[in-house]
Amino acid sequence: MTEQDQAADTIEARAYRAALDVIAAVEPDVASHIRGELDNQRSQLKLIASENYASPAVLLAMGNWFSDKYAEGIPGQRYYAGCEYVDKVETLAVNRAKALFGAKHAYVQPHSGIDANLVAFWAVLAHRVEAPFLTEHAAKNVNELTDSDWEDLRQLFGDQRMIGMALDSGGHLTHGFRPNISGKLFNQRSYHVDPETEMLDYDEVAKVAREFKPLIMVAGYSAYPRAVDFAKLREIADEVGATLMVDMAHFAGLVAGKVFTGDFDPLPHAHIVTSTTHKSLRGPRGGIVLTNEEDLVEFIDKGCPMVLGGPLSNVMAAKAVAFAEAQRPEFCDYAHQVRDNASALAEGIAKRGGRIVSGGTENHLCLVDVTSFGLTGRQAESALESSGVIVNRNSIPFDPNGAWYTSGIRLGTPALTTIGMDTSDLDEVADIMCEVLAATEASTTTAGEPSKAKFTLADEVRERARSRSAELLAQNPLYPEIGAI
Ligand SMILES: Cc1ncc(COP(=O)(O)O)c(C=O)c1O
Repeated sequence: MTEQDQAADTIEARAYRAALDVIAAVEPDVASHIRGELDNQRSQLKLIASENYASPAVLLAMGNWFSDKYAEGIPGQRYYAGCEYVDKVETLAVNRAKALFGAKHAYVQPHSGIDANLVAFWAVLAHRVEAPFLTEHAAKNVNELTDSDWEDLRQLFGDQRMIGMALDSGGHLTHGFRPNISGKLFNQRSYHVDPETEMLDYDEVAKVAREFKPLIMVAGYSAYPRAVDFAKLREIADEVGATLMVDMAHFAGLVAGKVFTGDFDPLPHAHIVTSTTHKSLRGPRGGIVLTNEEDLVEFIDKGCPMVLGGPLSNVMAAKAVAFAEAQRPEFCDYAHQVRDNASALAEGIAKRGGRIVSGGTENHLCLVDVTSFGLTGRQAESALESSGVIVNRNSIPFDPNGAWYTSGIRLGTPALTTIGMDTSDLDEVADIMCEVLAATEASTTTAGEPSKAKFTLADEVRERARSRSAELLAQNPLYPEIGAI
């Protein structure tokens, strides 16, 4: 029996073949696109910092009849009948999330990270703005307010303030930026990294917090390569009376895997913590909200109907599976390897001439300033994609090229670590990437101006990168248990 035949005989391979046959019998094109996606993922080096590969158990837990059930409310208190098994699965996911992160309370219904943040913002607004207003107006709920009092409360919501990390320092749009609903709701001011060290400037955070007096102080990031001292941020929040909310969407896997402990674990320090479940945590696409503050629990649990519709029970089932996986000791090894691999990648790029923002990394990602190769982020991203290396362009601190073209690329190691790569593999990845970046030349627009998007790259360099990547991927295959389908 060949290795491929053996793989084809596993329970996972049979499950997926059968599932695709069932889909193909109704719409063959969808089955074919699902196969195409797997082929693509298997043939590319995935360095998108926010992506991962969930286990077959997680993926399969999503594809079933839980998807058909409405279950607005929380376990035991639903607005729909027939929720016996949704209650069981949601309770399981809640208990596993609490145990995994050491939180007193977990809410596992958010459909994504943006939803988790909205649930958290509105829980804080309901607790700190709406509840005192209702007490003052002797009303039990908003429906008891007069039209004029309701209008005053709506104005009061609009007057609230938030601070968050600047986008080009690594912050996220959902932390109060204008294109997102959070920026339309809150008056936001940003704090930054230090221009010299490119590390979070806690003195500036304190200065902005003291001047601006926010209701909510948001910490967390999508493109900051360092550990954050949440104990220090809590001191600042307490001094100005702000609620500290940490969005650990990117690094939840490193918290679950005990890479970030003590002052660097948000749970003991933040009033409220949000996360996605699909990035370094390696679960299904979704969000969670955690807290140790009793006062916030009733408001978080009102996420549906406050900002969410009915929960995705199938995804809550998959979250329970993913949290169970993350509680295994192997997940700690995985999380530490993710961090070590990111360091190896950053070092590998630095020793081949790339400038690493802040000089290194302490988490799962690093940022490369690709102007050190004479390129914009857009050119680097496209040149690498054409060579089979998938990264995303990203602003670097105080980026002169703006958010569209950018001067950087963001690289993350959660996905490559899941398929078994180690630090020597990541050094090879750095070599493949640097060969492509060094050979890529910025070209000019049709008007002869320097272009921020166009580039030239010799086909033989592309081909060499593709064949070296293919060799690495053959040694570390994606879903070997599923085999060829
Ligand atoms: C820090 C942070 N928060 C929230 C989100 C939003 O997550 P989702 O895409 O699941 O809505 C992201 C996604 O990139 C993120 O990086």
